[in-house]
Amino acid sequence: MSFSIIGTGSALPKTVQNNKDLAQFLDTSNEWIVSRTGIESRHICVAESTLEIALKASFNALENAQLKPEEIDLIICPTLGGDTVTPSLACLLQEKLAASCPCFDLNAACSGFVYGLDVADAYFSRNQEMKILVVAVDAMSKFVNWQDRSTAVLFGDGAGAVVLSSGNDLKAILLTAVGNQHALSIPWPKGNHPLTENQVKPLPYLKMDGPEVYRFAVSAICKDLRTVSAQAGLKLTEIDYIIPHQANLRIIEGAAKRLKIPIEKFVLRVNNCGNTSAASIPLVLDELNRNNVFKPGTKIALTAFGGGLTTGACIIEW
Ligand code: ACO
Repeated sequence: MSFSIIGTGSALPKTVQNNKDLAQFLDTSNEWIVSRTGIESRHICVAESTLEIALKASFNALENAQLKPEEIDLIICPTLGGDTVTPSLACLLQEKLAASCPCFDLNAACSGFVYGLDVADAYFSRNQEMKILVVAVDAMSKFVNWQDRSTAVLFGDGAGAVVLSSGNDLKAILLTAVGNQHALSIPWPKGNHPLTENQVKPLPYLKMDGPEVYRFAVSAICKDLRTVSAQAGLKLTEIDYIIPHQANLRIIEGAAKRLKIPIEKFVLRVNNCGNTSAASIPLVLDELNRNNVFKPGTKIALTAFGGGLTTGACIIEW
């Protein structure tokens, strides 16, 4: 059994910060950021909570699917972390939606949306009557050290959602993980008990080895796209749209070059959102869906990589 996407939604916070805004308080420039990353601006949660953007994306997706919240049987929230450690963001969202189904968060960093689709797919093999809401949301601005120019310029905040019913759209899916704390991490205090050794509480700021993540990401996109397209019985050239995790233009260009496929096949939106972590792929999916870009039979590849390190890719036929 597989699923069909019957609705999409998304939400971005109101506040927009362009590169020149960042250069007011960081030793950086528009030229450096654009040439290294392709990012020109990003949306930041200043007035909104993570829950609020997740809620907006969810309502949009439900409206698009013509479903009421009470018709949803499961909510999965791929996220690095909501507004509280507990309740989960998914539970807070369920309360605000006035839904009554089970719900949980899922942390696979920037690969979270594809991980969420895989988990949802498994539920459909148990019960084909279900309707599942997958809401990928991250507010990376909470985890970024705004004095560290090497990471702060890369990220933005956003939420993207899909409503799934059982169907035959998912043609192949692949998840991978290679545990690696060095490449990308957000530390957390080790313990609060007075006997806990090394009581120093690290600030929960993102740390990243940029070049290592870059190498990992280019290689992961190539390997994963080859694998899922082969599983789906497709040549890469037969895929209509590749929606990659929008981390960095140079990563996507590097992968396109290595795969020898035109960059035009990749949908690029990193310029005005930055890296929105788990939300980056469903944000693009929603935009293309609302612009009626997808027709019956359109073949779409999703490819993500993120902290963990994790990767996820899939092929969907609309
Ligand atoms: N503005 C100006 N200078 C900067 C900035 C900045 N914002 N950030 C770093 N620099 C400086 C560094 O201090 C360093 O200076 P130094 O040489 O004097 O020490 C220099 O720029 C480094 O420059 P480059 O080597 O050219 O940087 P590089 O080409 O490696 O680009 C980048 C850095 C963009 C982070 C790159 O490594 C990269 O794209 N990595 C992938 C990381 C990524 O996209 N992560 C997000 C993914 S997380 C996730 O989604 C999985």
